[in-house]
Amino acid sequence: MQSIFETIKTIAFKIDNAIKTEDSGYLDTENSSGEDQLKLDVQSDLIIEKAFADVASVKALVSEEKEGVLHISETGKYTVCYDPLDGSSLIDVNLSVGSIFGIYEGELKGENLVASAYVVYGPRVELMIATREGKPRFYRATGGIFKEIREVALNQKSKLNASGGTQKEWQPQHKAFISSLFASGYQLRYSGGMVPDLHQILLKGGGLFSYPGTADKPKGKLRQLFEVIPFALMYEQAGGEAVNDKGQRLLELVPGHPHDTSPCFFGSKTEISALREAYGLS
Ligand code: AHG
Repeated sequence: MQSIFETIKTIAFKIDNAIKTEDSGYLDTENSSGEDQLKLDVQSDLIIEKAFADVASVKALVSEEKEGVLHISETGKYTVCYDPLDGSSLIDVNLSVGSIFGIYEGELKGENLVASAYVVYGPRVELMIATREGKPRFYRATGGIFKEIREVALNQKSKLNASGGTQKEWQPQHKAFISSLFASGYQLRYSGGMVPDLHQILLKGGGLFSYPGTADKPKGKLRQLFEVIPFALMYEQAGGEAVNDKGQRLLELVPGHPHDTSPCFFGSKTEISALREAYGLS
């Protein structure tokens, strides 16, 4: 597993360099979810594919930018599912973006996620790693290496509220829930990039990130294998909770297809308990 984490550190520097130096224009192609691809999406995907090609413990790769599974080695143990450059449409306006990695052993489902990691490319390059043991570990790149800064833990309650999706398409119960949070003093913190938005809540000690099912996207937007399940491990290991709109733990999801999405809610205990109440789940 350590070799996978070390590879992610190398990847982080390469993608950061590409973001800072390469063309941020669009290609004429779409990814498997039907979204327009940036040159940087494809380049980041290639950087990751090349970096993992020689890592003995990696059996296969599944990318948000590609359909299907890329088999690497018969003897490898882990499948790495990744979103190479999440939020890439924000690069044009110079907001933070990220890479997300889920490391699975066996069938690709939540309970088989053994570790996850994400990288934030912002004013600084930062990395978070979570396993099933202990709190997530937070690293910052300085002088070309990642230094561990601290372990991350969520408070019982906070006041940050990152609520995604088009408001016009929210279901009435979601609209009422988010309004009630603001009415009780929560502050809006939403950039439109799930990596920096969830990173902010983790580092500031709590709050709620939601991407609900909406009238136009009943199953939400965020992909289970590459985005939702990896962040669920981060939030649970930090002492928070991560559930879908039925109150099911996101770490129990079983995707039917690598690109399946799910409504998702990540937060401190108090905020998730308020969600359960508002959605009639408790
Ligand atoms: P993309 O990679 O296509 O830019 O999508 C970003 C994702 C995720 O990072 C973010 O939380 C969500 O889309 C934002 O979607 P909305 O604009 O619908 O809130």
